[in-house]
Amino acid sequence: MKMKVIIAKDYEDGARKAADIIEKIVRENPECTLGLATGSSPVGMYRELARRCREEGLDFSRIHSVNLDEYVGLDGTHDQSYRYFMNTNLFDHINIDKANTYVAKGTGDVAANLKEFNDVLDKTEIEIQVLGVGPDGHLGFNEPGETLYDGAHEETLDDSTIEANKRFFASKEDVPTHAVTMGMGNIMRAKRLIMIINGNKQEAATKLLIEDKIDPKCPCTFMRLHRDATVIIEQKLADEIGYKA
Ligand code: GLP
Repeated sequence: MKMKVIIAKDYEDGARKAADIIEKIVRENPECTLGLATGSSPVGMYRELARRCREEGLDFSRIHSVNLDEYVGLDGTHDQSYRYFMNTNLFDHINIDKANTYVAKGTGDVAANLKEFNDVLDKTEIEIQVLGVGPDGHLGFNEPGETLYDGAHEETLDDSTIEANKRFFASKEDVPTHAVTMGMGNIMRAKRLIMIINGNKQEAATKLLIEDKIDPKCPCTFMRLHRDATVIIEQKLADEIGYKA
């Protein structure tokens, strides 16, 4: 199947459409592993899933999860770590067992953390991987480069990534310079992919993604090679980049 592009009326509509896709999977496979992502794009979807758990009995009690990435140098209690993000934006608001959630460790021995991360990924089948995209087209933290990686590894963050993510920190100097991330192979081996883009300096990458091409210097365009991939973009962003369904 070709990559599917869904145009949402606005952010909340996109969040509901994404939550519909996740809800269907959770109801059909109540013991599956969800691949999760951070960033501002999926926050609305997480809020909607939490509401459905609270008000409509959507059950996460047997669901497992694994996250895309984590900053090197931030402990899980740091308010900008991705473990903290997942707890506060989703896990604290649904009936998932936190012991069944995995976010790679950001502190301690990087090599040992990567070994653990790869071991988890090698024995996990991800039912659906949630994705966002960086302004430079990164997926997870797979930055553009001469080569891309198959498995989990450490990345040096591009200046544009640090620039984009500084909005969450007191200053640019506080943004970690390195991260551990799933590799492109881990992402592509997920059974389904869903990307949510809310248009935060991602116009150029989104334009490349929805053109009928793979740009080897723009990691997100590899998503087009997946046989079950969906991208949700807002009408506003579609208009900005001249995309018509
Ligand atoms: C960070 C994450 C990416 C995410 C990106 C998009 O860089 N490591 O995985 O896709 O943010 O962020 P946002 O959704 O805020 O635009």
